[in-house]
Amino acid sequence: MIEIKTPEEIGKMVECGRIVHRVLEETGAAVRPGVSTLDLDALAERIIRSEGAEPSFKGYYGYPATICASVNHEVVHGIPRKDKVLQEGDIISIDVGAKKCGFHGDAARTFPVGKISADAARLIDTCRRSLEAGVAQAVARNRVSDISKAVQTLAESAGYSVVREWVGHGVGRNLHEDPQIPNFDNGKKGPVLEPGMTLAIEPMINVGAFKTEVLEDRWTVVTADRKLSAHFEDSIAVTADGPKVLT
Ligand code: MF3
Ligand code: CO
Repeated sequence: MIEIKTPEEIGKMVECGRIVHRVLEETGAAVRPGVSTLDLDALAERIIRSEGAEPSFKGYYGYPATICASVNHEVVHGIPRKDKVLQEGDIISIDVGAKKCGFHGDAARTFPVGKISADAARLIDTCRRSLEAGVAQAVARNRVSDISKAVQTLAESAGYSVVREWVGHGVGRNLHEDPQIPNFDNGKKGPVLEPGMTLAIEPMINVGAFKTEVLEDRWTVVTADRKLSAHFEDSIAVTADGPKVLT
């Protein structure tokens, strides 16, 4: 069932979204060669707690950290580690959730580490634009599939593949709510969008094939062909005046 939020509840989600956005700005600014993904995790947790919020991911099905830090061919859910040290030319997706006043915000960005290749920069730019294209379809009376198709069309026109096995989701009192939001056309129209729905739209796009695998740590999702992947996510509210980005 899709939970419809009242304007007051969306106001609380604006606050969570502001905190998540702040974490992405500040952790993104700290991304540089020599920094470990555990350093970024500590920074994120410090900011979230200083805002009177809680990390949404820590303890979620036993997840051990505040952020997911996914480097290069890692797609999502990379676990921060002291020995995972960023190097010039890497790309890193930082994904973070914060809970405050009973609601969650969830968002991700992919950042360059120092100077990166033109190919990697184009992947990141395309993923950001595919998120924007998806968000633009988050309009009352559209369907979830309109979001999915917009993301897929933009990413595939640029020559990239779209991850199938992991999808976006509703977000609110729970980190993951209905509906599922695929980033590709799965042949189903999906639910009709209504004002008050709050959605986490999160394209994951690959340089190579769309297939992914989960590593031995049971969290880290990687591309099966170990080619580069990028990930962007925003939490948004569907309103009578169009999509409102919360993060
Ligand atoms: N943004 C990710 C998602 O929606 C974060 C989940 S990581 C977890 O799937 F650790 F919390 F599971
Ligand atoms: Co999410």
